[in-house]
Amino acid sequence: MRQEMLLGTQRVNGDGVLEIGGCDAVALAREFGTPLYVVDEQCLRDKCRAYREAFAAHYPDSHISFSGKVLTTTAVFKIAHQEGLGLDVSSEGELYTALRAGIPAKDIVFHGNNKSQREIERAVIEGVGRVGVDSMEEISALQEAAAARDAVVDVLVRVAPGVAADTHTHIQTGRVDTKFGFSIVGGAAKEAVEAALAAPNLRVRGINCHIGSQIMETEPFVQAVELMVAFAAELRDALGFVVEELDLGGGLGVRYLPEDRPPTLDEHARAIAGALRAACERRGLPLPRLIQEPGRSLAGEAGVTLYTVGVVKTVPGVRTYVVVDGGLSDNPRPALYDARYHAIVANKANAPRTKTVTVSGKHCETDTLISDLQVPEIEPGDILAVQTTGAYNYSMASNYNRLPRPAMVLVRDGRAEVIVEREGLEDLVRLDRLPPRLRD
Ligand SMILES: Cc1ncc(COP(=O)(O)O)c(C=O)c1O
Repeated sequence: MRQEMLLGTQRVNGDGVLEIGGCDAVALAREFGTPLYVVDEQCLRDKCRAYREAFAAHYPDSHISFSGKVLTTTAVFKIAHQEGLGLDVSSEGELYTALRAGIPAKDIVFHGNNKSQREIERAVIEGVGRVGVDSMEEISALQEAAAARDAVVDVLVRVAPGVAADTHTHIQTGRVDTKFGFSIVGGAAKEAVEAALAAPNLRVRGINCHIGSQIMETEPFVQAVELMVAFAAELRDALGFVVEELDLGGGLGVRYLPEDRPPTLDEHARAIAGALRAACERRGLPLPRLIQEPGRSLAGEAGVTLYTVGVVKTVPGVRTYVVVDGGLSDNPRPALYDARYHAIVANKANAPRTKTVTVSGKHCETDTLISDLQVPEIEPGDILAVQTTGAYNYSMASNYNRLPRPAMVLVRDGRAEVIVEREGLEDLVRLDRLPPRLRD
């Protein structure tokens, strides 16, 4: 029999039912309803710790931040922080969530490519550890906001190194043609560093980049290191500025499908640390503090979404549709960038996969979640566990078709705790207003 892809603490129990964090997935579906986001706490903690330890082993002066956009909830932020990670945020809402989780502002990096005036002021007022500046407008606005409060803000300058990582174009973010940061090619990045250095209330600590996401090889990261270090040498030669901190963003890929083989954390850390040491030595630069901001590679495999199978519809000679009680609204990634997923029928986890089906959602769109999934005999009422949904699912969820957003439970050692409540119908109309003239 083909080996199942079981991630984190997932196992199949003696009754042939999928367990996550020691909890029976069918019992979870029954108790909390579906769709249900399930977060495997042990898996999340292990990933955070392993990432931190891998870099500490290969490059002691390293710091890992959890990229808060991937799974934006106070409980998850708290867990990442307890595991010794900082946090990166990209909006006032993410910052607010982090502060509500009790993360000290000094441990937070504030990114974002179009921060509002309010966000810039919030960053200064809260005293976040670093602001990643992304445009000339922002450098001026941040300087002004800091001066008005007599504050000095530590900044990183976001650089587009010109790396086209082999991933979907929507998540390639380090090319020359990008809305993010300042391009090294053409000199914009140098001008930005110069402008930030000239701002009396900004202290430039270094440079940052993020080349893309779901990257399945080490080479693009090595290339980014080479380009960033070459740029650091240019800054030293042209401006006399020595980069103290090099923030490489996130990007490491995860297993969505059984055949996916992302680099191990050891390979990833070894490649980046080795390239950084060699490049700095070649250019006579002191070794900078290395910052990483992984998101997907920490939370992705820790998440599972449980759905109840509703309609099973065969279009003769074409395909069988298995329709679940969620879809586009709780996981827009397949529609956004053809993301692929794997799933287990949780109540038949040991049964041989004898049929090929297409898993669809219930939205008024062709919201295919998984094409050509092999499943056992499947019927209404079965519980489908879609794996690797811990990153960019809940945080990208919507209320399309006015579906309430699912609850999220944290599972560990046989215990399940709600960390995000399921939305109710009242939540869906909470912000609606009926002007008096429309009331009968
Ligand atoms: C600046 C920055 N850092 C980190 C990340 C996290 O990336 P990943 O989830 O691929 O690790 C992103 C993702 O968009 C990002 O923009």
